[in-house]
Amino acid sequence: MRVLVLGSGAREHALLLALRRDPHIDALAIAPGNAGTAAIAETYDVDPGSGQAVADLARRIGADLVVIGPEVPLVLGVADAVRAAGIACFGPSAAAARIEGSKAFAKEVMTAAGVPTAASETVDNPAHLDAALDRFGRSAGQPAWVVKDDGLAAGKGVVVTAERAAARAHAAGLLDDGHPVLLESFLDGPEVSLFCVVDGETVVPLLPAQDFKRVGNGDVGPNTGGMGAYAPLPWLPAGMVDRIVAEIVQPVATELVARGCPFSGLLYAGLAITPQGPSVVEFNCRFGDPETQAVLALLDSPLGELLHAAATGGLAQVPPLRWRDGAAVTVVVAAENYPGRPRVGDVITGADADNVLHAGTARDADGAVVSAGGRVLSVVGTGEDLIAARARAYATVDSIRLPGSHFRTDIGLAAAEGKIRV
Ligand code: GLY
Repeated sequence: MRVLVLGSGAREHALLLALRRDPHIDALAIAPGNAGTAAIAETYDVDPGSGQAVADLARRIGADLVVIGPEVPLVLGVADAVRAAGIACFGPSAAAARIEGSKAFAKEVMTAAGVPTAASETVDNPAHLDAALDRFGRSAGQPAWVVKDDGLAAGKGVVVTAERAAARAHAAGLLDDGHPVLLESFLDGPEVSLFCVVDGETVVPLLPAQDFKRVGNGDVGPNTGGMGAYAPLPWLPAGMVDRIVAEIVQPVATELVARGCPFSGLLYAGLAITPQGPSVVEFNCRFGDPETQAVLALLDSPLGELLHAAATGGLAQVPPLRWRDGAAVTVVVAAENYPGRPRVGDVITGADADNVLHAGTARDADGAVVSAGGRVLSVVGTGEDLIAARARAYATVDSIRLPGSHFRTDIGLAAAEGKIRV
C-alpha cells in the first residue's frame, strides 16, 4: 500500500514512523513535511489546504490512502476532494470536521446526544460581553473563566483565568478581530485525551493520554499547541475508557450519522474527569499533537491497515488493537519566545536520534537542520513505566542543542509520582 500523509509536524513524523512498521505498506510520501520526515518519506511541496492539489498529487503518485494530519485541511474539505477523486482518505468530511471547526456546532451535537460538557454561551456582539461574563466565572466558589475562540486557533485561542479583567481582555480581542467567543464553565478534574478511530457508527479507542498545554512547569504561563504528553494514564480508573466510549464518543458518532454527516477518521475527545464523571472539554477531528507521538510509540498493531479500514468502511472487521507494555513520554523542545513569535533559523544539533521527531525544522542552504517554527522537536521516551520513559526522553533532550530553546521538565512527573487523583 502507498500512503500519502499531509502535514508538517511531529504528529505526522510519528504517523510515518508507525506506518513504516506496518508490513502492508511499501511506500510513504508526505506533503509538505519537514527536515525529519524527508528522511523517511518522499516529500512533495504541495499545499495541504488545497483539495485539488492534494487530489492531483495523490493520483499522480498512485496513493492508495491519504492520511490528513492537521485540522485546517479537514475543515476546508480536503478529505472530500480526495474521496471525490476515488482515493481512500483517513479524515472526516468538512461537514463532520465542524465538530472541531465550530465549537458552537460541537455543543449542539453534544446537547442532542446527551453528552456531558461544560455549560457554554456564544457571544458575537461586544455589547453582550459583560453580562455574559457575569453569568460565568464561578467554579466550586472560585472564579474561573474559560474563554475560547469559536473557530480554529491551534490550541492557543483558549484562556482559563481567575481574573475577570484577563478574561474580558481576551474575549474583547477576539470580538475585535471578528471572531465569535465561547464562554464556558470551568471543568474541574484531570484532563484526558482519548483518540478514537471512527467509521460511522464503529468506534475503536486508542490508549488514553494526557497533554500539557501551558508553556511552563506546573502549568503556568500561556497556552501552547502542547508542550508534552504521556500515555497510558496509570491513574485513570479501570473501565473509564469503555465508559467514555459508551457515554460520550459513541453517542456523538451516532448523532453525526443521524445528521447526515457521519464521521470517518480520528475523533479526539478532550475530557476532564470531574467528580461527577467524564465531561467533554472539546472534540477535535484529527490526531492530537503531541499525544500522538506517545500513543503511537506503543502501538503494536499495523497502523496502515487500521487507517485504511476506517477509510473504506471496514473498521468493524479489524482485530482488537495490540499495545506494547509500558509507557511513553513526549517532551516538546520549543524555539525561543514560543508561544509568541518564535526565533527561527538556528542550527540544531543532536536531532538525528530515532526518538527525535521533527516539527518546525528545515534544511538551510548548507544542508544543516535549522529551526523553522515554534514547536521544533518532539522527543519520545519509552520504558517499562513512566519513570523509565521520562528518563529516556529527557536524556535525549539533554543531548540536543538549539540556542534559546526551552522545554518543560515536568512532563508525566505527577503521574509517575502517583500524585494525580480522580
Ligand atoms: N494536544 C492538543 C491538540 O492536539 O489539540
